[in-house]
Amino acid sequence: MKQSMPSLAPPMVLTQESMPLFEALQRYGRSNVTPFDVPGHKMGMYTSVMQQAFGNVLQFDVNSMKELDLLSHPQGVIAQAQTLAAQAFGADEAFFLVNGTTIGILAMIMATCAPGDELLVPRNGHKSVMDGIILSGARPVFIQPEVDLHFGIAHGISVENVKKAIAQHPDAKVLLVTYPTYFGAMSDLTTICELAHANDIIVIVDSAHGAHLTYMPQAKDALACGADAVTVSMHKTGGSLTQSSLLLMQTTRLTKESVQKVLGMLQTTSASYLLMGSLDMARYELANFGYERYEALLPVIKAAITQIEASGHYEVLKESYVTSNFSQSYDMTKLVVRVNHLGLTGFDVYTMLKQQYNIQMELAEGYVVMAVITPADTKESIQRLVDALLHIATHYAKGMTVLSLHVTPDEVNELVVCPREAYYAPQETIAIDDAEGRVSADTLMIYPPGIPLVIPGEKISRDVIAMYHYYNKTIGNVLMEAGSAHHITVIKEHA
Ligand SMILES: Cc1ncc(COP(=O)(O)O)c(C=O)c1O
Repeated sequence: MKQSMPSLAPPMVLTQESMPLFEALQRYGRSNVTPFDVPGHKMGMYTSVMQQAFGNVLQFDVNSMKELDLLSHPQGVIAQAQTLAAQAFGADEAFFLVNGTTIGILAMIMATCAPGDELLVPRNGHKSVMDGIILSGARPVFIQPEVDLHFGIAHGISVENVKKAIAQHPDAKVLLVTYPTYFGAMSDLTTICELAHANDIIVIVDSAHGAHLTYMPQAKDALACGADAVTVSMHKTGGSLTQSSLLLMQTTRLTKESVQKVLGMLQTTSASYLLMGSLDMARYELANFGYERYEALLPVIKAAITQIEASGHYEVLKESYVTSNFSQSYDMTKLVVRVNHLGLTGFDVYTMLKQQYNIQMELAEGYVVMAVITPADTKESIQRLVDALLHIATHYAKGMTVLSLHVTPDEVNELVVCPREAYYAPQETIAIDDAEGRVSADTLMIYPPGIPLVIPGEKISRDVIAMYHYYNKTIGNVLMEAGSAHHITVIKEHA
């Protein structure tokens, strides 16, 4: 018997009130189709643990086809959903990403840097920035971020340091900026973009932590500051499912094709419709309700900060402090609380919050704990955190301790070979004490403040070794790739 087929055609009118991809998925789910394509769970038709757990969600986990479009060559509902995303974020083009901002950073670097091109980057960039440098063969020129000794973290890069880097490297092709940083600091990106563009330098931005900025009162997102391309983790603060991000770009200095081509190399040919559908829905939510939700949220955060600080035991990272000390603005949805007045480290408080109050913080550092606040939070959930912090202060304070922080020296190590060459060179692992003068094939990260001590291709100096030991002896953590303690992987000298 022939069944009547509901229409699978997308609607003609496209506005921010529509969700073309998600609506197409709904139509497909209701269409009574008999699937002989992958995925093999066939829209959840198995009775399985997964079907019981995920239920109807599985009807959206389907394969590419004409009516649901194809991410690598979008011409239908994915193209429409991407167009709406571009409009919602003030971009000329938007690309859906299904491997997080990580893939967007790789793509932005690979689309703009050929092997040997100079790329100006903050020294405290995310791991994917170094991976992008290795994949592209770019030559990194590091810019030291502003280091905050009081909070024990690094903020954004300063206009002065960008100016200096451009003066010393007039042939630099691209500048990458992290905006905002993980801890919420926002460099003066407008001035930085003007400076870069005046020197024919393309600006690409890691805005993993800034998907919400477009819809936050008084905030300025990276594109509004003049960036050429930016990747935002919609899954972090934009409301979509984990792993889904957006690459947003202007076509003044970059072409859509150059970015699309690299993304075609890096992304899967089986992009998840759950992730892409969630991007369509999250864009709809932000575009239609984002501003008013953030407008309602900010006073709640301000009230929480007042309560936390009134206890006299904590200090919260605030816009006024970041602006007056570092000339940067601040995203107050990152609640960074300095806990050292209690005689406890951020790691201690992080563990207490989890074990005794069942509160999961975003992260801890030596001096601070951090909560990420979004419109999913309520007055009540935020009050639970405030009450727990106040309870910890009255019951567990050990008295003031002074923790001293020695930070990475301002001088940058000598880059002997590009990180890509170091990656492919023959390597050996040796004791760090024997590594002076050798070229690293390893990254040593130090926390706080999360700036690498040495990266692949750099010469290991006596200072690097001394700093490594200092960090091991004090409150610092050193993250290294070589499996065994106090060892480092270096390039073989006489291969
Ligand atoms: C500053 C920064 N950039 C990039 C990323 C990568 O983002 P994603 O997890 O979306 O791949 C992260 C992840 O935490 C990050 O903190």
